[in-house]
Amino acid sequence: MIPLIGYTDCFSARAGGSLAIKVSTSHAEYRADLVRIRSADPNPNGPGMRFDAVPAAFAGTFPGRIQSLHSGSRAEIDCAAFSPDEDWTFCVRVQPWLLDGRPQAVLAWNGVSLYVTGQGAMLRVGGSECRVTAPMLERRWYELRLVASAGNVRLIQRKLHHDWGSEGHGTAAIAETLPPPQRIILAADRDAAADGWRDHFNGRLEHPMLLRGTFDGITPLEPSQLPRTAIHAWWDFSLDMASDRITDRGPHRLHGRLMNLPTRALRGAFWTGEEMRWRDAPDQYGAVHFHADDFHDAGWDTDFTYAVPADLPSGVYGVRLRAGSDEDIVPFFVLPPPGTATAKVALLFSTYTYQVYANYDRGNFDQTYRERRAAWGSYPHHPAEHKQFGLSTYDWHVDGSGVALSSMHRPILTFRAGQLAYPDQRGSGLRHFPADMHLAAWLDAMGIAWDAITDHDLEAEGTALLARYKCVLTGSHPEYHSPGTLDALRDYTATGGRLVYLGGNGFYWRVATSAHLPGVLELRRTESGTRAWAADAGEYYHQFDGGYGGLWRRQDRAPQQLAGIGFSAQGRFEGSYYRRLPDSHAPEVAWIFDGVEGEIIGDFGFSGGGAAGFELDRADPLLGTPPNTVVLCRSEGHQAHFGVTPEDVLQPREIKLSNAPDPLIRSDMVYFETRNGGAVFSVGSITFCGSLPWNNFDNQISTVIRNVVTRFMQ
Ligand SMILES: [Fe+2]
Repeated sequence: MIPLIGYTDCFSARAGGSLAIKVSTSHAEYRADLVRIRSADPNPNGPGMRFDAVPAAFAGTFPGRIQSLHSGSRAEIDCAAFSPDEDWTFCVRVQPWLLDGRPQAVLAWNGVSLYVTGQGAMLRVGGSECRVTAPMLERRWYELRLVASAGNVRLIQRKLHHDWGSEGHGTAAIAETLPPPQRIILAADRDAAADGWRDHFNGRLEHPMLLRGTFDGITPLEPSQLPRTAIHAWWDFSLDMASDRITDRGPHRLHGRLMNLPTRALRGAFWTGEEMRWRDAPDQYGAVHFHADDFHDAGWDTDFTYAVPADLPSGVYGVRLRAGSDEDIVPFFVLPPPGTATAKVALLFSTYTYQVYANYDRGNFDQTYRERRAAWGSYPHHPAEHKQFGLSTYDWHVDGSGVALSSMHRPILTFRAGQLAYPDQRGSGLRHFPADMHLAAWLDAMGIAWDAITDHDLEAEGTALLARYKCVLTGSHPEYHSPGTLDALRDYTATGGRLVYLGGNGFYWRVATSAHLPGVLELRRTESGTRAWAADAGEYYHQFDGGYGGLWRRQDRAPQQLAGIGFSAQGRFEGSYYRRLPDSHAPEVAWIFDGVEGEIIGDFGFSGGGAAGFELDRADPLLGTPPNTVVLCRSEGHQAHFGVTPEDVLQPREIKLSNAPDPLIRSDMVYFETRNGGAVFSVGSITFCGSLPWNNFDNQISTVIRNVVTRFMQ
């Protein structure tokens, strides 16, 4: 357990707005105050961890309390009961994904629990139980029925497909009169002693239904074919896909709710492979996938609220919590008052990408990491040590399916000043929020006034948010964008805005949002791309908005169209340098290099030791790089561990015929002008911003970006 940790209800607020702060601590009391976060690099040779104290009305001492966490998804339904002497049948299609020896509850109510196990389905009623002796296999569909009649319950298990060689059918019986269902739980069982849930089911459920009378024939029950009078309740999971509601198509409208974000819009038992889009064949997409490690909203009570003063300068702030030797600084962003800008420059923090990566365990929590963390006194909690706050979309669930949903409503260990991503032997090893603070610290060092804005604000406010600024800067890795945020950036550059893209692998994946589940992002890792996991065939469309998921490139919106460059190659967290190209000396663009000596640019930095590294972007006219784009610099000297991104590889690399360095392993620094005085400057490297603070912010990279931003502010 982390002895002191908190989260805010939102990543940002406008001056004059408010934020709620939620804290869990084992200390009897804790102190809270406000800081402005100026720099977030724990490297003793770097720009430092710098926090300025800021007066705040909420500051003070608060009573401590431990607030609980519950992972694992389920469905909850308040169910009108049958009369006790009535015969009835419960039926559900089940696809287990993890049969690891532990019984997993498909259905539970009032002391009745229906489980799946690798040996077959099992029913417990009070102290009695019965088991089907027919094995279940992972990722295969079965139908389970409970048939209650005359003080007897039969449990029927039937496999729904006949293409493999195991026996899947079986029945069992128990001489009990079941209590009629009242509050039905699907995919978990109540753990009253722990005030929580247990026996979580990992897998898919489809078409649970309660029927009047006994249905014990061998043909699988298809609810749409049953007489309407037989249906007491039929929960059709293909409805209300963008929400956590489950809709009962029966006469009593016993609607329920999904808890903790199970995944929807997935293939059901009878998907034919002929339709790929759930909207085209909803009857084939009635499955919900539950996981023991799903997580939505920690749901902690609010400890205090911060009413952000209307005159608080825009920037990056943190609620600092302290008790004994424990400290947690919960970051958030403050925007200017509604409808205003207080600077010519905005820094667009990649909060969508922060959220998609939230609590990602990179699998590198080893001795080297721990020694670096101890030596630097960097942020003391790694996601590998604390799985209780939920997974990132870079993880797999415990049953081997990819994590498609990520919520902001929880403590996020990766969203902290000083959090090391890598024990970087050539730099600080920062990613995302702390890495982007290199840019914020640089703006302050240059004396350039700037406002903080975020992806979440961009989604809410659209292009109007950007239009107030002469120049908008991105951080190191603006990878994830929704249709709303990408449209807003496109429209900004098309209407005179000046965009400075200071990252790599930007504008790459599509994410979806739902008004029914605010603060949650959905991601389908489809088709191709550098992927942590792969969506299954037929599951490429988002549940939240019905849109096709995957790379924006697959939807004719490659990053080159917006930024002039797009993802090309990736290696380990290590950097190299750029070389100036002859075109960069043309008078139209030579101003970018005023005051810069030499042809080698950026062979230094606090991220991987060089400005061009980790993930690299290239110009490519076939993918949309505008014809008036000038490639100013090109990176070279990349380490042998770099490779071309999969979407550019058409054949196994072993049969490549040339021994020449792969031309796609490169980063292109580009400039182009758009209509109405707009312009775009892009660098195409994740490690680039790490070079800005080098030599106390006095270096070639700093000079180049100062030249660009100064011109763009005109
Ligand atoms: Fe990424």
